[in-house]
Amino acid sequence: MIEIRQLSKIFSSSGSQRVAVNKIDLSIGKGEFFALLGPNGAGKTTTISILSTILKPTSGEVKVDGLNVVDSPHLVRQKIGIIFQDPSLDDRLSALENMEFHGRLYGLSRPQRMVQSEALLKMVDLWERRQDLVRTFSGGMRRRLEIARGLMHHPKLLILDEPTIGLDPKTRRTIWEYIHLSRKQWGMTVFLTTHYLEEADSADRVGVMDEGRLVAVDTPEKLKKMVGPEVIVLQTDPDNLEPIQNYLEKFFGIVDCHVDSEGEISFPLPIGEEGAIGIIRKLPGTIRAMTIRKPDLDDVFIQMTGKNMALNQETASPFHRVYRGKL
Ligand SMILES: Nc1ncnc2c1ncn2[C@@H]1O[C@H](COP(=O)(O)OP(=O)(O)OP(=O)(O)O)[C@@H](O)[C@H]1O
Ligand SMILES: [Mg+2]
Repeated sequence: MIEIRQLSKIFSSSGSQRVAVNKIDLSIGKGEFFALLGPNGAGKTTTISILSTILKPTSGEVKVDGLNVVDSPHLVRQKIGIIFQDPSLDDRLSALENMEFHGRLYGLSRPQRMVQSEALLKMVDLWERRQDLVRTFSGGMRRRLEIARGLMHHPKLLILDEPTIGLDPKTRRTIWEYIHLSRKQWGMTVFLTTHYLEEADSADRVGVMDEGRLVAVDTPEKLKKMVGPEVIVLQTDPDNLEPIQNYLEKFFGIVDCHVDSEGEISFPLPIGEEGAIGIIRKLPGTIRAMTIRKPDLDDVFIQMTGKNMALNQETASPFHRVYRGKL
């Protein structure tokens, strides 16, 4: 469905150049659910803008369903539905008018528009509010309407740039139900960027992007295996975090520690070492508690990018609000 070859995008402004996307290669199959992760400024939205024909590549080639995005932008647009990172509804129109307008842009007939608007607005639970102006909607209602609008012309490819940011867990779940329903109904491919671990975890494959480069692409399971078999989480005094980090680096070569201000530190158990207990016995200071768990995508993200995924957004779950580096 998507073929990206050696794609680069360089922005030039006032004499300086910024490489937003740096020679990425990526193929995404029909019906696949692909999630792209990356810290702020990694180049995710730029990649999506090129895929959706809003920006032109500086070099390289991008094809959507066999069509080159530069040569056939109109045909490509017919095939995709997009939910932008920034809200893009017309808030002076009603929910139904937003749907109608979108349907017209995509050349749907009046009966098609009526049928689709009703089905989709019912699906996102906004049918009762269809005549209300979008400016009277809550953030979650607007996002649900944007999803419904993006699905209006039954796109072969749905592109979602952080679609559920700031939404409550129930609304997030509902939105995903709609998306999965549409995938089943017409075999839609999904290209997602997100900072929510559980959303990326349910993808067929995950790509990690950092500073314009695609640093890893694989299934969530294989990416987690790359971190190591297990992650050790220790509770110590906040003052003891730095000595422990120094010790781990000096004796075990561990640099990708995850630390928080309450005194928690986590790191992958090094393969071939003497095991968790052996390592912990040698650490300086007092260790109050220890947990061993399987790696998650946050560990993958830290290892690949040296940054913490949850720091990308203010609405991150408090359970993931952790800080890396010296305190
Ligand atoms: N129109 C533009 N002009 C100049 N630089 C830009 C432009 N758009 C993006 N950039 C730069 O390109 C880089 C990648 O930005 P992009 O928006 O693609 O990141 P992102 O991965 O989507 O980040 P976020 O998680 O914050 O949404 C950044 O350094 C950004 O400043
Ligand atoms: Mg972005």
